[in-house]
Amino acid sequence: MTVKRDRPENKMWGGRFAGGPAQIMEEINASVDVDRRLWREDTEGSKAHAAMLSSAGIITAADAVAIASGLDKIADEIESGAFVFSTALEDVHMNIEARLKQLIGEPAARLHTARSRNDQVATDFRLWTRRACDQAGEALKDLQRALAAKASSHADTIMPGFTHLQTAQPITFGHHCLAYVEMFDRDRGRFEDARTRLNECPLGAAALAGTAFPIDRVMTAKELSFERPCANSLDAVSSRDFALEMLSAATIAASQLSRLAEEIVLWVSPQFGFVRLSDAFSTGSSIMPQKRNPDAAELIRAKVGRIGAAFVNLLFVMKGLPLAYAKDLQDDKAATFAAFDDFVLSCAAMTGMIKDMEVDEAVMREAAARGHSTATDLADWLVRALNIPFRDAHHLTGKIVSLADEKGLRLDALSLDDFCSIESRITDDVFSVLSIDASVASRTSYGGTAPDEVRKQAKRWLEELK
Ligand code: ARG
Repeated sequence: MTVKRDRPENKMWGGRFAGGPAQIMEEINASVDVDRRLWREDTEGSKAHAAMLSSAGIITAADAVAIASGLDKIADEIESGAFVFSTALEDVHMNIEARLKQLIGEPAARLHTARSRNDQVATDFRLWTRRACDQAGEALKDLQRALAAKASSHADTIMPGFTHLQTAQPITFGHHCLAYVEMFDRDRGRFEDARTRLNECPLGAAALAGTAFPIDRVMTAKELSFERPCANSLDAVSSRDFALEMLSAATIAASQLSRLAEEIVLWVSPQFGFVRLSDAFSTGSSIMPQKRNPDAAELIRAKVGRIGAAFVNLLFVMKGLPLAYAKDLQDDKAATFAAFDDFVLSCAAMTGMIKDMEVDEAVMREAAARGHSTATDLADWLVRALNIPFRDAHHLTGKIVSLADEKGLRLDALSLDDFCSIESRITDDVFSVLSIDASVASRTSYGGTAPDEVRKQAKRWLEELK
C-alpha cells in the first residue's frame, strides 16, 4: 500500500470551496497514514449502515447490494496491498468512499445518507478498540498459562523471598510465578471491563444531533455486535474514554510486566544466577564474548514508558475539549495504535521467555538458605513451644541471629548450647523449624507458599485458563 501525495480539490466536501487546500493544510489535516489501519472496521460499519438504510427504505435494496459488494472488493484490494491511499482524500473513510464511487458509481454517493464521519469514525474506533481489548486479553492469557505451567513444575523449588530486595523468608518459585498469574488476571479483567463499557454503537448519531431520516440504530448496533446504540448523539461522537480505558488497562498491565521483566534481569545476572534464558530469548554483546543479555526483558521493562505516554497523550487531547466533535479527536489514534502494538508484543516476548526459561534449582536453594531466612520460623517456634509473646520472641531471635553472625554460622549450624545461652528453655526440637524445607512446608495458610498449596493453586489456574 502506498500513499500518493497529490492534491486535487476535495470532491467529498469541497462544494463550497473554490480551490484546494494548501500543501501544509493537507499535511496537518490528513490522517490516512494512521487511520488506514481502520479499513476493516470502516468497511464493516459501512456495510451495516447500508443494510440498515435499505431495510428502513431510505435507499433501495439494489443500491445496498451494490454498496456491500463494492465494499467487499475494496476490502480485498486493501488486504492484498493493491489499494492506493491518497492523502488528498484525508482519511480512510473518504479513501474508501471515493474508491466505492469509482467501482459502483451513483449508489456509492447514497451511502453517507444519515451518517457523518463523526459517528463513522467513532464507530470504527470503538470496533477497533473492542478487538484490541480482546487481543490484549488473549495475549495476557497466554502469558498466564506459561506462568501457571512453570508454577506447577516448580511447586517444590525453593527460592529466597524478598522484601526490600533483602532475603526475607524462603518461598517456592512456583508461588512467585503464581503471584504474577494473579496480577495478570486482574489486568485481563480490566480489559474485559473496558470492553463491556465500550460496547455501545455510535453509528446514527450523525454529525452530532442525530438525523431526521427514519434510521434503525438498534439494527446497526446489532449488526456490529454492539450491546445497544449510544443513547446520546453528542456523547456518541465526542467521547473517547473507551480508548482511554483500554490504554489505562494497558498501562497498568505494562507496569506489572515491567516488574517481572526487572526480576528476570536480576535473576539472569551472574550475581543471582537463578534462571537461564534460552538462546532464542538472549542476545550477545558485540565486544564481550561471554555475555548473554536479557534484551527482551529490558525492552519490556522500558515499553511501559511508551504505553503510559500514550494514555497521557490521549488524556491531554481530551482535557477541556468542548462537545461535540472537534478535529482534535483525530489525534486519538496514532499513540493508541502504537501502544497496543507495544503491549501485545511485550506480552508475547514475555510469554516466550517464561516458556523457555530454565531454573537453576541448586542456586536458588543455596540463596534461600542464606541471610538467616528462617529467623521468623525460629521466633514462631519460641511463641509456640515456650509461650513467649511474639514481640519478645522477635527480640530473642534477633540476639540469636547476631550470635550466628558473630560465629559466621547459619542458624541451623548453631549448637543447642548456643541457643540456650540466649534462652535456656530452648530444646532440640528447635532444629525442626530451621531448615528452608520445613519453613516453606509450614506455610500452609490459604494463599501461602507451602508446596501443596502452590500445587493446588497452579492446578486451579491451569484448569481455569484452558
Ligand atoms: N478523520 C477524522 C477523525 O478521525 C474523521 C472525522 C472527520 N470529521 C470532521 N468533522 N472533519 O476524526
